[in-house]
Amino acid sequence: MKFKDDNIYKVTQENSPFEFNKQVASVFPDMIGRSVPGYQAVINMIEQLAGRYVKDKTNCYDLGCSLGEATLAMDRGIVNANTAGSDSSSPEITIVSVDNSTAMLDRCQLHLDCYKHHSFITLKCEDILTTKIENASMVVLNYTLQFIPVEKRESLINSIFEGLNDGAILIVSEKISFIDQPVNQLFIELHHQFKKDNGYSDLEISQKRNALENVLIPETLESHVKRMVDAGFKHVNCWQQHLNFASFIAIK
Ligand SMILES: C[S@@+](CC[C@H](N)C(=O)[O-])C[C@H]1O[C@@H](n2cnc3c(N)ncnc32)[C@H](O)[C@@H]1O
Repeated sequence: MKFKDDNIYKVTQENSPFEFNKQVASVFPDMIGRSVPGYQAVINMIEQLAGRYVKDKTNCYDLGCSLGEATLAMDRGIVNANTAGSDSSSPEITIVSVDNSTAMLDRCQLHLDCYKHHSFITLKCEDILTTKIENASMVVLNYTLQFIPVEKRESLINSIFEGLNDGAILIVSEKISFIDQPVNQLFIELHHQFKKDNGYSDLEISQKRNALENVLIPETLESHVKRMVDAGFKHVNCWQQHLNFASFIAIK
């Protein structure tokens, strides 16, 4: 499937808030790959963890699935684990991939159609705050929680906890902030350098930053860990931090 290069913020924009619309959907793989440090490593880890944690006859959830990269990673992990293991029967696993942007989901469907997948994959267009999580062995919130109003994040994590089976895993990846202001500023600047090194101009970086203001709200690593511990997760840890982007695992 063909995707365009991300040139959205090359031209001067009106100061409108960032949206996951058709234009963004058409360039999304290029945008996320050039903007999020450690993105591919997170996708690879989702695949590995799916192989370890996903159980037969359970559900997996990709909340804020965009074009389904994490969905496909879970599917690959499930297939690899199943073919490597002693159980040769086909697993009965459903991956529920949820997004509230029809533009993203339309592209997601086309993207998934390009790959042979082995789990049942169900796409749902809905607000993840209303998604019922049940009989889950794995839930992925990959760079999505940061778009949820801060005051609603606790109840979302609590409801994910409720829907996970014992021993199951939640993966949360986020842009993070730091209480220590000089460190916060340093990581912001290093992240801008990362984007410049990936071909974005100063104009593109500053326009995108303005568009994301009040749309993407980062929190500290400590706030994320505390929220998951408070929800009841037994084991919570940050497994990767690349500049101001981090990924966490939480095991029930
Ligand atoms: C940064 S993208 C996620 C990237 C994706 N998880 C991946 O690994 O490639 C955030 C996604 O979350 C979706 N989103 C944001 N708020 C949402 C909500 N309340 N309910 C459902 N989807 C939401 C957006 O439409 C967007 O597709």
